Amino acid sequence: MLIRIPAALNASALAQAQAWLADAAWESGAATAGAQAVQVKHNQQLPVGSELARRLQGLVLGELERHPTFFSAALPKRVLPPMFNRYAGASNRYGNHVDQAVRYVPGSAQRVRTDLSCTLFLSDPADYDGGELVMADTFGEQRVKLAAGDMVLYPGSSVHRVEPVTRGERLASFFWIESMVRSDAQRRLLYEMDVSLMRLRQLHGDSDAAVQLTGTYHNLLRMWADT
Ligand code: NI
Repeated sequence: MLIRIPAALNASALAQAQAWLADAAWESGAATAGAQAVQVKHNQQLPVGSELARRLQGLVLGELERHPTFFSAALPKRVLPPMFNRYAGASNRYGNHVDQAVRYVPGSAQRVRTDLSCTLFLSDPADYDGGELVMADTFGEQRVKLAAGDMVLYPGSSVHRVEPVTRGERLASFFWIESMVRSDAQRRLLYEMDVSLMRLRQLHGDSDAAVQLTGTYHNLLRMWADT
């Protein structure tokens, strides 16, 4: 399932991130790619562990922690530190690849299974051409290019690419999540149920039926969650 999270970064956090990135020192993205991906990866990234990357990570994770849709959609167990990339000039594309299934938290022995891939768009789409994130989905090919501050979550299992950026620059944050609920189908069911429950509560308050269904949601989560 592909889930869009509008305003994952609010306007002030987005402006802060853009200001910090304006004078960033970028390096080749090949540094963190696996054997297959490195052959098709032509972009730039912030050095992992740099002071700027750490500041940005704190900003992004702080915003996401407060975002109700993010928690409901991802049911996060472990979140890899967000990374930051740039597509522009000659380093402008990333061909078809699948993300590594297991990654290490940089500088530690902690492994994270990449159930979900996340891309947080940081550039105004009017400021660059191309740069669509294209992923194979059960419904066919999805092309995603979102407003600055918006984020997309998609299954880590999907083949995906970033189309060449032919004008301007495309800045984004990307990272992976190990979910408490490993199965994409189960996670989807829980998310859709949670969204419907929120609507029911808005319409009718905490009716008996809504309370009962909330209990069912939590009992399914209890059945499926690995904490
Ligand atoms: Ni990828």
